[in-house]
Amino acid sequence: MSEASGTANIGVVGMAVMGSNLARNLASRSGNTVAVYNRSPERTRKLVAEHPEAGFVASESIDDFVASLQKPRTAIIMVQAGAGTDAVISELASRFEPGDIIVDGGNANFHDTIRREKDVSASGIHFVGTGISGGEEGALNGPSIMPGGTAEAYKTLGPILASIAAVAEGEPCVTHIGTDGAGHFVKMVHNGIEYADMQLIAEAYDLLRTVTGRAPAEIASVFETWNSGDLESYLIEITAEVLRQVDAETGKPFVDIVLDQAGAKGTGSWTVQNALELGVPVGGIAEAVFARSLSSKPEQRAAVQATITARPSVVSVDVDSFADDIRAALYASKVVAYAQGFDEIIAGAAQFGWEIDKGAVAKIWRAGCIIRAQFLNRIVEAYENNPSLATLLEDPYFAAAVASGEEAWRRVVSTAALSGVPVPGFGAALSYYDSLASVRLPAALVQGQRDFFGAHTYKRVDREGTFHTLWSGDRTEIESAPSTH
Ligand code: 6PG
Repeated sequence: MSEASGTANIGVVGMAVMGSNLARNLASRSGNTVAVYNRSPERTRKLVAEHPEAGFVASESIDDFVASLQKPRTAIIMVQAGAGTDAVISELASRFEPGDIIVDGGNANFHDTIRREKDVSASGIHFVGTGISGGEEGALNGPSIMPGGTAEAYKTLGPILASIAAVAEGEPCVTHIGTDGAGHFVKMVHNGIEYADMQLIAEAYDLLRTVTGRAPAEIASVFETWNSGDLESYLIEITAEVLRQVDAETGKPFVDIVLDQAGAKGTGSWTVQNALELGVPVGGIAEAVFARSLSSKPEQRAAVQATITARPSVVSVDVDSFADDIRAALYASKVVAYAQGFDEIIAGAAQFGWEIDKGAVAKIWRAGCIIRAQFLNRIVEAYENNPSLATLLEDPYFAAAVASGEEAWRRVVSTAALSGVPVPGFGAALSYYDSLASVRLPAALVQGQRDFFGAHTYKRVDREGTFHTLWSGDRTEIESAPSTH
């Protein structure tokens, strides 16, 4: 194995599938010589043997790996997020020099990225936490890349990342998101939207199956049709493929032989946790995360099923027009999921001091990533027309799109409720929309309740000031200092 020194302009640490594919992607672009290293050398040897065309500079020790990099050195870490990442960072940081760049391309929690950037940059080494979306295939052929870190590091790193990123309408799907943890924050929100999009599609499938009585292969055709309209997206495309799949062993639809308990690795929960901390209502995303948790509680599901004697009968519908309604409900709910995700990005940027260009984020999500969709162009335009939209739902295109699907959306949610089909995603999205659309909310009553039991005070609609009613006294109103408890 080569121990050449200082010939590689970029290195990759971690030769599991994502790391190997990213290394191959880098090696396939002109001008790159790629150093590779993995803690256990077997993986590196296998990769080098299988891909001689890549001209990898392989090392079996971290010292050799560092020596194989041109200065200033740039290394991308592609290991499982968590403690393993910290170990590799410290191995590199203790060998790197000021001006060198350590990139973490894993699905790190952005709080960890902020901490790591602070630690590493203290010695003059750049640390760039980078979201990379697109799965194994994206890593190999062109992912969507969301780097944080300093603008200075991006000067060196940007062109390398641009060379391997997916391309949407002639533009590489990479942009400098913001400093320290901004890239991983935006990747986290991407995944939250991914969860919501997947859940909404799953609900659409469930309704098509249960209410319109179509078989999985027929539903695959419905999704294929939808994929040529405004719902065109990677997730709709793969949904059709999954639904068309037949289990070789039983001859049954694949979707019927898979255990209905959805897994999760954590990024969706982080999106919701951070939204709670930031005070951003992301109910559509949260319901998607909770739907996976609920699906994975077989004891509770069985316990409730055991108490039930009969399920509601399915409401009878006109099959074709109800399918159209579902399509409209899916689109409107999807708009809500994106509106919530972008709200979280705006709130995160304000909280953590990032300047995030929302339009640029929408642009780099148009290709390469899991949520890639035609629809992202509309978001790009919305933020181009008005960068300070209070919500995406205010944009004239989206306002009109939601309004035109509104009746269908309501028919779908009410038909689902009457038929006993769970639609936590559609329902939460519609309630979110109705909450924003309502001139008065029952929050006024909640304020009254809070003031009653805790003297938490309230504001009036008709004049300035903070007030409290003497509920346990004569029930007169007094002006009060705002409650702090
Ligand atoms: C991506 C994906 C990727 C991964 C998710 C989903 O953007 O390429 O989001 O990061 O597939 O982490 O994982 P779970 O569904 O297991 O949480």
